[in-house]
Amino acid sequence: MKHVLITGGCGFIGSNFVRHTLKNFPDYKIVNLDKLTYAGNPGNLTDIEKNSNYRFVKGDIVDAALVGRIFAEENIDTVVHFAAESHVDRSITGPAEFVQTNIVGTFNLLEAAREAWLNDKAGESKNACRFLHVSTDEVYGSLGETGAFQETTPYDPRSPYSASKASSDHLVSAYFHTYGLPTLITNCSNNYGPYQFPEKLIPLVINNALQGKALPVYGDGKNVRDWLYVIDHCQAILTVLQKGRIGETYNIGGNSEKQNIEIVNLICDILDEKVGLLPGGEKRRSLITYVKDRAGHDRRYAIDATKIRTELGWLPKVNFKDGMRKTVEWYLDHKPWIASVTDGSYREYYEKMYNNRR
Ligand code: NAD
Ligand code: TYD
Repeated sequence: MKHVLITGGCGFIGSNFVRHTLKNFPDYKIVNLDKLTYAGNPGNLTDIEKNSNYRFVKGDIVDAALVGRIFAEENIDTVVHFAAESHVDRSITGPAEFVQTNIVGTFNLLEAAREAWLNDKAGESKNACRFLHVSTDEVYGSLGETGAFQETTPYDPRSPYSASKASSDHLVSAYFHTYGLPTLITNCSNNYGPYQFPEKLIPLVINNALQGKALPVYGDGKNVRDWLYVIDHCQAILTVLQKGRIGETYNIGGNSEKQNIEIVNLICDILDEKVGLLPGGEKRRSLITYVKDRAGHDRRYAIDATKIRTELGWLPKVNFKDGMRKTVEWYLDHKPWIASVTDGSYREYYEKMYNNRR
């Protein structure tokens, strides 16, 4: 039995990962440590919260004593580290929290793992330990019209978010080289799917389009992201955990580059088809509103996922069109979920972020 500490398991990717892992590996014991920031929602996991192999701990990865206690109490041998401040726009208006959680929090987890695994465990049990750090393609910076990020691409982060993730990646790598901690790093492209908080492009546009509200497109709408369905990402992480070579980095991507405006148009069309036109008889594309660009907006991301495909045999299974239909359908079927996460504090956030963009 593995004793897995998952951090940030109440967020978007983390909650999908907890569910996917319990389903596929019912013998894993999972402890989910999550601070429940605005982005964390225990309601994302109500269907599995009574599973006897699952324990939720509300707490902060910046709290070193708590992290150390969990390692000792639960005999943790595997870490899958998702917890982070994850939204670029918030990192522009308030970078301090990004430094705390993404850098200091990661440092605490590495220290706890070093203490528990390298001092206490011997032989076989030491070899079975793994620390998988979930990171982003944004650490590599911004691409021109061609090319794709490889694992060897030099880091060039350009937002406080990506700089804090780059910093945490470097710490993880240092703990492998310096102390021999059994680490793995994954750098993944943009995810989409169920349970994504509606501050990110896709759920924000779905939510606004359902309510007949303006659909804010930054700049000229031609920035490109490489989109991956979240369950494909979860499967990639499990693959790296089981088969990845210690100390290595694996890029994960969907091979599905889209301009932002293509995505917004697609969401409008799917919703028009599924729920009918707007009350005035207009198509939802009429809600598209070009707004002031994000500061330092990275133009294009693209992932070269050759390494994970050829070394570990992972490939994405869900193509973009199917994934987007499934995602829109999920949001249509979970309107109470949307309502519960777009309460007062979300409205405040929205006004602060978008009112001065027009
Ligand atoms: P998210 O914002 O939806 O969730 C983050 C979770 O971490 C929340 O549940 C939050 O409560 C928790 N958290 C935040 N600070 C914490 C702290 N100090 N202590 C404990 N828990 C804390 O994020 P996400 O989109 O699910 O991303 C998860 C990870 O994947 C992040 O590390 C992110 O950098 C990485 N990633 C995300 C994407 C993407 O497209 N969303 C792509 C590549 C990599
Ligand atoms: P986002 O979902 O925030 O992910 P990231 O910045 O990590 O890639 O944004 C995806 C793209 O969509 C990015 O180019 C910014 C753009 N965008 C908009 O045009 N409007 C919006 O309201 C948001 C949130 C993002």
